[in-house]
Amino acid sequence: MTNRTFTMIKPDAVANGHIGPILAKINEAGFRIVAMKYTHLEPEKAGFFYAVHKERPFYKDLVKYMSSGPIVAAILEKENAVEDFRKLIGATDPSKAAPGTIRNLFAKSIEANAVHGSDSDENAEIEGSFFFSQMERF
Ligand code: CMP
Repeated sequence: MTNRTFTMIKPDAVANGHIGPILAKINEAGFRIVAMKYTHLEPEKAGFFYAVHKERPFYKDLVKYMSSGPIVAAILEKENAVEDFRKLIGATDPSKAAPGTIRNLFAKSIEANAVHGSDSDENAEIEGSFFFSQMERF
């Protein structure tokens, strides 16, 4: 059982100046930032990252959106990290996200939903290793 999760602050949140407020919420919730990177995903990389959604109707638009501007990728550490982070960000659809959650506060739509959070320990490891070398996430 790992105590880490992986997150991205997505293009809409970066473009709208929400990096600082989102990181503050993450810190206030007790997560330690293990690794962090400001980067821009090319469509091929966004497509690879979200390959699990390849057959979904929103896949093409998702890849376009995720490569439309810079993002912030990070590995976060805390006890029960995956579950606690998903609580902190709220439901995928911001109209259903609980008040005070990151998506409730900062997300625009189900696609431009401000942040990503891994859905399992296994995926947290896979996603974190896509962005960060072994040394960076030591
Ligand atoms: P995320 O948690 O990063 O995982 C998959 C992403 O697909 C999701 O957030 C949204 O950005 C995007 N998405 C777009 N449309 C949908 C949809 N109808 N259901 C779920 N995810 C969607």
